[in-house]
Amino acid sequence: MVTLDAIREPVRKELEEFEAFVRRNFKVENELLAAMVDYILSTRGKGVRPLLVLLSAGLNAPATGRSVGQRTYLAAMLVEIIHTASLVHDDVIDESDTRRGRASANAKWQSRNAVVLGDFLLARNMEIGMRSAQYDIVSYVISSIALLCEGELLQNDHARKMEVTRNTYLDIIYKKTASLLGISAGVGALSVGADRGKIAEMRRFGDALGMAFQIQDDILDYTRGAHTGKPSNNDLREHKITLPLLLLLDRSDKARQDEIRELLARCHEDETAVDTLQAAVEGEGCLQEASKVMHGYLQRAASLLAAWPDGPVRTALVNLCAYIAERNR
Ligand code: IPE
Ligand code: IPE
Ligand code: MG
Ligand code: MG
Ligand code: MG
Repeated sequence: MVTLDAIREPVRKELEEFEAFVRRNFKVENELLAAMVDYILSTRGKGVRPLLVLLSAGLNAPATGRSVGQRTYLAAMLVEIIHTASLVHDDVIDESDTRRGRASANAKWQSRNAVVLGDFLLARNMEIGMRSAQYDIVSYVISSIALLCEGELLQNDHARKMEVTRNTYLDIIYKKTASLLGISAGVGALSVGADRGKIAEMRRFGDALGMAFQIQDDILDYTRGAHTGKPSNNDLREHKITLPLLLLLDRSDKARQDEIRELLARCHEDETAVDTLQAAVEGEGCLQEASKVMHGYLQRAASLLAAWPDGPVRTALVNLCAYIAERNR
């Protein structure tokens, strides 16, 4: 089993610099906001996106002769804070009371304050970006916010209708998740002055990795005994048809599809409906089948790395692909 710690190893020092960079930049005066920001920043997640930025920068720096420094830390901070703010808002949208094993911001301070906290994080993030005058980095990263919003809206719309096709699902997860991982990988290369071709290749790598990342997140939502620090089966409660349920619908005849949708319609209020659908998805092999789709994306991602010379950083990125398939948190 490959660990995140092992993947972090080639950029361990840079990750420490990055942490200090975030802390320095997110000093907040207002007492209530400071408590909220501190809570959010000290309940750290896995940090996959900044790790991707640093590894991508490290992979591309030898060819450009530039080193990983302030531009890269700025890029890593921008993507991680966009991600963090999106989760604060996501837990409001998904009515979720747990995040990273602790109370979500909405559970702790009510949704009305969590919405503002998310906005504050995004605003301060961009303020820091603009003040740095690294406009190429800021403009590369900023497009992710609109994509993310589009993905969330599309998802809400389809959850309301309880109707989603494979293509719509893929479009949603590209917009809400994969695009930010693609941008993380791309901006890492950009931050050390890689050429346009290499930046685009890195982005394709991150996009594929990101598709796999969200599929695994959707699998973990159904997986008993996962350690995500989030409530399980929440996608069913929110009427979301993600890949595992989509696969169950695909293999069902019309009558059973209707039955599945009726159960799904009850999931917000009825835990037995949740259990029934969870058991069907798991029992009929839909998690394994979803995992196959995920592996397809990971293979594509790993094969894109062949364009770079072998070394510890490339190995770490290959291992990151393996980690995403194996992760249970
Ligand atoms: C969770 O992202 C939301 C998705 C896009 C799947 P992460 O799994 O990266 O969350 P943290 O930051 O590690 O908690
Ligand atoms: C990903 O979707 C969230 C964002 C990209 C904001 P989820 O709603 O599945 O994320 P989790 O499972 O709550 O972390
Ligand atoms: Mg959620
Ligand atoms: Mg969500
Ligand atoms: Mg999820």
